[in-house]
Amino acid sequence: PRTPCIHPSILSADFANLERELSRISTADAVHVDVMDNHFVPNLTLGLPVVESLRAATDLPLDIHLMIEDADVWAPRYAELGCESVTFHAEAAQAPIRLARELRARHSSAAMALKPATGIESYLDMLGELDMLLLMTVEPGFGGQSFLDLVLPKIRRARKAVDDLGGEIAVQIDGGVNAETILRAADAGADTFVAGSAVYAAEDPDAAIAGLRGLLKH
Ligand code: DX5
Ligand code: ZN
Repeated sequence: PRTPCIHPSILSADFANLERELSRISTADAVHVDVMDNHFVPNLTLGLPVVESLRAATDLPLDIHLMIEDADVWAPRYAELGCESVTFHAEAAQAPIRLARELRARHSSAAMALKPATGIESYLDMLGELDMLLLMTVEPGFGGQSFLDLVLPKIRRARKAVDDLGGEIAVQIDGGVNAETILRAADAGADTFVAGSAVYAAEDPDAAIAGLRGLLKH
């Protein structure tokens, strides 16, 4: 697998002080931005205007996680803002292969997410179109939920499929990642870890990132 990456989710940050909150995760590998539309998930967060401002406010790579309907229409717009990675949900895309190609054509990494109950088998043939596969380890919509161990076999399946293709594609997990759960996911084959509450609930988010990295070294 690749070198492990930690992507803090600003869903658990103070939305009235996003610039300051970004400065508290200066050691992150990327900033995970959760875009929700109150249709694909029962929660509403932020959209293109806020992401455009985040783009101007940080040099950290932006990892955009779209939990929205009509992903085919909206995802390319985030790539056009200069986001390094855009993740759409398989369940919300009409044409995931075409969409992944449109993202890459706009110089973004192309990533696709699967909800916990969505099977991976029917997507294995298109893995080569992706730079990252996100396996949700909670039902998307809210921070602070518990890690779902039932996703571990799917992480193992993804790791094997990615390794068969040369191991370049990132296997990201999102939801319930903390010091207690991160090793189970890493052992199953995840290499990119989103952590919201575990990072931002800490007094020092950068120290929390270092703590998670330290666990992955053993
Ligand atoms: C949930 C979001 C996650 C969320 C994770 O739908 O996609 O990125 O911020 O939060 P924690 O780490 O608290 O589970
Ligand atoms: Zn997310």
